[in-house]
Amino acid sequence: MIQKLLDERKLPALMKMNDGTPVTKENWEARRRELIDVLETMEYGRFPKKCGETTWKVVSAGESSAGKATKSRVEITVPMPDGESFTFPVTVSIPNTATADAPKPAFVYISFAFLWYYPEEELVDNDVTVAEMWMNDVAWDTDEHLEKMAAHFSKDGQRAPDTTGKIGLWAFAASCVLDYLLSLDCVDRNRVGVIGHSRLGKTALWAGANDERFTHVFSNDSGCSGAAITRQKVGEDFPAICRRFPYWFCENMKEISGTVEDSENAPFDQHYLLAAVAPRKLYVASAEKDQWADPVSEYLCCAAASEAWEANGVTGFVHPDRLPEGWDRFADGNVAYHIRPGTHYLSRHDWVRYCDFISG
Ligand code: GCU
Repeated sequence: MIQKLLDERKLPALMKMNDGTPVTKENWEARRRELIDVLETMEYGRFPKKCGETTWKVVSAGESSAGKATKSRVEITVPMPDGESFTFPVTVSIPNTATADAPKPAFVYISFAFLWYYPEEELVDNDVTVAEMWMNDVAWDTDEHLEKMAAHFSKDGQRAPDTTGKIGLWAFAASCVLDYLLSLDCVDRNRVGVIGHSRLGKTALWAGANDERFTHVFSNDSGCSGAAITRQKVGEDFPAICRRFPYWFCENMKEISGTVEDSENAPFDQHYLLAAVAPRKLYVASAEKDQWADPVSEYLCCAAASEAWEANGVTGFVHPDRLPEGWDRFADGNVAYHIRPGTHYLSRHDWVRYCDFISG
């Protein structure tokens, strides 16, 4: 059943190089570069390159979660392509159980608002460190390119056709937060994840696709231009997302988002984005009532991307031959998926399952 549904979507081939050569474990890295290149050129814009060392300063620290953790405010400073630098804050919660002798997992959590809800104490009790980065501290979620990090990537507010959009700036900032986390000897570098919800789920996927130091990548309800297949998607489509949020993407995205037909003729689909995480660990989650994001297209996208893991000799997406429903969770492979009843939200239920996956 699932293969038939996938065939109907008529996706561009994943496991063939641009010149038609079949993809194997040996040329996987070259294929991964091709996937990222088309996504950079047409969708998100060029992923910023580091122009120098990321530095940081802990500006305050204190006990939190009933004394079971330390919470600090850290300023991250990143050299910019115009020779200047840009500084933004993150809030880091480190459980006392995470030590140099017993390093523990950590998340870079890209959030909607400074200290947006997350079950902080529960994460502490699960020995998980969280570095929370607020997107608006990095770049405003608006169509302007003159302020904050965006100012360093535009000329007088104008962007070149493949200059990064806001998703790329937030994703790059997440990668700079990772520089800081990896400097902490209480963080287990084999278990560092990036996580975000909705537009920030798209961002987490783009960060994880580009920065291979992220061992685990989590997309919560990311939908259109995130974890959902674009071809025949229900709910939001490329024309709709680009009318409201053109600045999330590069200017070239306009070429493939005028009509639904244009987007269905694009030389890529979102399984390219998921596959760029291979052979690392990927977790995609949906909410049943979130038809705008389209849970079926998110699930099918995991199934479509799975062959990238298999070509690398590891298990991809292990799932039954049917669509997901209720509280289904399929987490036996390197690509995991769950759905839950309810609406578009990064809930406690989702967090707990992400914790299990990264701790596993
Ligand atoms: C809008 C947008 C989605 C996005 C969501 C969010 O609904 O259309 O693409 O994921 O906002 O970020 O909450």
